Amino acid sequence: MGILRLSHVEIRVPDLELATAYYTEVLGLLETGRDAERVFLKCWDEHEHHSVILRYAATHGLEHMGFKVEHADDLERFESKVEKEGGQVTRHARGELAPGHGEAIRFQTPTGHRCELVHGMEKVGNLLPRTNPPPRPLGLVGIAPPRLDHIFVTAEDVDEGTRFFREVLGFRLTEQILADDGHQLATWLEVSHTPHDIALVTGPNGGLHHFAFWLDDWNEVRTAADTLAYHGVPIDVGPTRHGATRGYAVYFFDPLGNRNEVFTGGYWVDPDHEVVTWTEAEMGRAIFYYEGAVNQRFLTVHS
Ligand SMILES: [Fe+2]
Repeated sequence: MGILRLSHVEIRVPDLELATAYYTEVLGLLETGRDAERVFLKCWDEHEHHSVILRYAATHGLEHMGFKVEHADDLERFESKVEKEGGQVTRHARGELAPGHGEAIRFQTPTGHRCELVHGMEKVGNLLPRTNPPPRPLGLVGIAPPRLDHIFVTAEDVDEGTRFFREVLGFRLTEQILADDGHQLATWLEVSHTPHDIALVTGPNGGLHHFAFWLDDWNEVRTAADTLAYHGVPIDVGPTRHGATRGYAVYFFDPLGNRNEVFTGGYWVDPDHEVVTWTEAEMGRAIFYYEGAVNQRFLTVHS
């Protein structure tokens, strides 16, 4: 019981049609619905109605992030836990927030992010039959990641944000970068036995650093970079390797300024995993192991 994984991200885009063209033709997501201000998308191997929502807005950034809970009564339990912390929680019936949406609660985290927990999103199926399926559908377009993987957000007080995600929402800390004075500069947290479902890094409250899609191996990460270069998409960093998480990744921007990542690798995490710590002096290698440094543009975030 509890939170299973990242369910969806809602991203602000000042040009809905341009964003939809990029996310469907370059990233290769599938459109599953739309209304006047939003377009709903999913990756090919996801079974539920949407994992990315594009929302028309004046600027880029994160509108909200949603996590999937295992049982309907998890929502009630988290509602009272968040309220005990002084948070305000709203409850939403199935289908109220979006087409295909499940029952949900919404609240703001101490890091200034709108957060949602959802149960029972409509299942629309992946692109494969459930009897004798092939490993991959034919005719996928663009990068075509099988699923959303994680989100990386910014917070003024990473220690406090990390405490909230651990104590209130039940995430487990896998890795951290500690400043010389002992405070947390960045943390990686999981519920899905992967190195991270969410990570926090020092920056403005409510900010989005990036959200990431899973790819199955390093070759696919390199092929994704080929696709990005072919389409003239600005590549931020990589293909490269992380120290923290040990993942392989390439970072790039959607045409409206939201940073995306494709990610693979990592390791299995048991609930009794012992935290890995990076020192402030090794922060560059924690983020990009080969480069050993973080470029100035990579530190840019959108709140
Ligand atoms: Fe990432």
